[in-house]
Amino acid sequence: MERESFGNRFGVLVAMAGSAIGLGNLWRFPYLVGSYGGAAFIFVYIFCVFLLCLPIFMSEVIVGRRSRSNAFGAFKKLAPGTKWKWLGAVSVVTPIIVVSYYSVVGGWSVEYFLKACTFEFTAGATQSEMGMMFTKFISSVWSPIVGHTIFLLLTAAIIISGVKSGIEKFGKIMMPLLFVLIVIIAVRAATLPGAGEGLKYLFKPDFSKIDTSVCAAALGQAFFSLSLGVGTILTYGSYVNKKENIALSSTYTATADFFFALLASCAIMPAVFAFGLNPQEGPGLVFETLPFIFSNMPMGWLVAILFFLALIVAALTSSISLYEVGVAYLVEEKQYSRRGASILVFIIAWVCGVLCSLSFGPLSDFHIFGQTIFNLFDKVSANFLMPVGGLLLVIFVGWVMKKKDVMDEFTNGGTLRGNRRISGFVYFLIRYVCPVAVLAVFASALIF
Ligand code: PFF
Repeated sequence: MERESFGNRFGVLVAMAGSAIGLGNLWRFPYLVGSYGGAAFIFVYIFCVFLLCLPIFMSEVIVGRRSRSNAFGAFKKLAPGTKWKWLGAVSVVTPIIVVSYYSVVGGWSVEYFLKACTFEFTAGATQSEMGMMFTKFISSVWSPIVGHTIFLLLTAAIIISGVKSGIEKFGKIMMPLLFVLIVIIAVRAATLPGAGEGLKYLFKPDFSKIDTSVCAAALGQAFFSLSLGVGTILTYGSYVNKKENIALSSTYTATADFFFALLASCAIMPAVFAFGLNPQEGPGLVFETLPFIFSNMPMGWLVAILFFLALIVAALTSSISLYEVGVAYLVEEKQYSRRGASILVFIIAWVCGVLCSLSFGPLSDFHIFGQTIFNLFDKVSANFLMPVGGLLLVIFVGWVMKKKDVMDEFTNGGTLRGNRRISGFVYFLIRYVCPVAVLAVFASALIF
C-alpha cells in the first residue's frame, strides 16, 4: 500500500503548526510567563525556541523524511541492528502517555465550553467561587470522564479519516479559525480599561529576574510547545514530500508557534491586570481566573464561548499529532488496519486518561513516587522523556547519521541554494550547541 503524505506546503504547515500550537500556548505559556516574571521569561524563551529547539525540530523532520517511517521504524531503518531502536520504542510510548493526560485537560475545555454556552459563568461571581467550581468539577467522578471521552473520540474520528483527509483537512479549516478567535479575544482584552499594565508586564523585561530556574522552565516550555522529543514531528516529517524545504517549513512553524503564544498572553494578561488579579496564578489561570473575568466583563459570555472553543480546537490539532504516532507504528510495524490501530490507541489512552482524571478525586491519595497519577504522567513526560528524547535525537542526527545524508535532506540533494549557505551553521548547532546547551540547562535545574 502506498504511504500517505501531506498534499502541499500549506498542508504541512497547518499540520505541524497544529501540533505545536495547543494547550501549551493557551494554557501553559501564559501562566509560566506570569509565574516567571513576564518579559524576562519571554526573552529567554526566544533564545530557547530559535537557537536550540528549531535545530532539533529540523532534525526530527530530517529523520522522518529520510526514513519515511514511523518513529520506531525510522531508527531501525537508519541505524539497523543498533540500540537506537530503543529510542524509537520510547518515542512511540511517550506520546501515548502524553495524549492520555492531554485529553483530560482537553475534556475540561469541552466541559467549560458547554458551561459557557449554558451561561454558567454568572455575572457577579467571585474568583473564589470560580475556583471552587473548578475544584468541584475536576474532583468529581463522571463529568471530567465524559469530557475526556468526547475529546478522545473526536481525536480518533479525525485520525481514522487518514493523513490527508483527516489531519491535513482538519488543520486547514481549524488553524485559520483558531487564529481569528484569538485575535478577537486579544483585541477585546486590550481594550479593557487598565489593560496597559498587563501589556507592560509582557513586554518590559526585568533582566535581574533571569536565573537557572527561569532558563529550565523556558527550555522545557519550548520543547513542549514545539512538540519535540516524542516522535510526533518525526512522524509528521515522514509525511512531508521530498520537494518540501525543511528549513523553511520548520522555521515557519516555530515562528507561528511563538507568535501564537504571545498572542494568547496578550489575550489573557491585560484582562488579568485590568481586574487587578494576580498574574502568578499558575495552572488555574485559564479555568479559574478567566471564567471570573468573563463573568464580570461586558460581552464576557461571548468571549467565554469563543475562548473555550479556541482551546478545544487548539488541543485537538495537537492531540491528533500525538495519537498519530502510535497509529503509524501499529499500521506499519504490526500490520494493523488504520481503524484497528486507532481503536487500540483509543482504548489505552482512554484507560490511562480515566486514571489521570480520577487522580483529582477518588484516587487523589494514590501516589507513585510521591506524585498523583496525573502529575506523574505530566512530570515524567515533560520534564524527563521529552528533553531526553530530544537530546538523543539531536545526537543521533549530529553524530550517528552520515553528514552527507543529513545535508542531502536539508538541501534537497543540493538543489536549495539558500539552505546550502546556512547548512554549516545549522549542522554546527545540531552537533555541538544543542546537545551541550540542553544537557547543561537540565543538569543545572536538577542540581540547583
Ligand atoms: N505542542 C503541544 C502544545 O503546545 O500544547 C503539546 C504537544 C503536542 C506536546 C504534541 C508534544 C507533542 F508530541
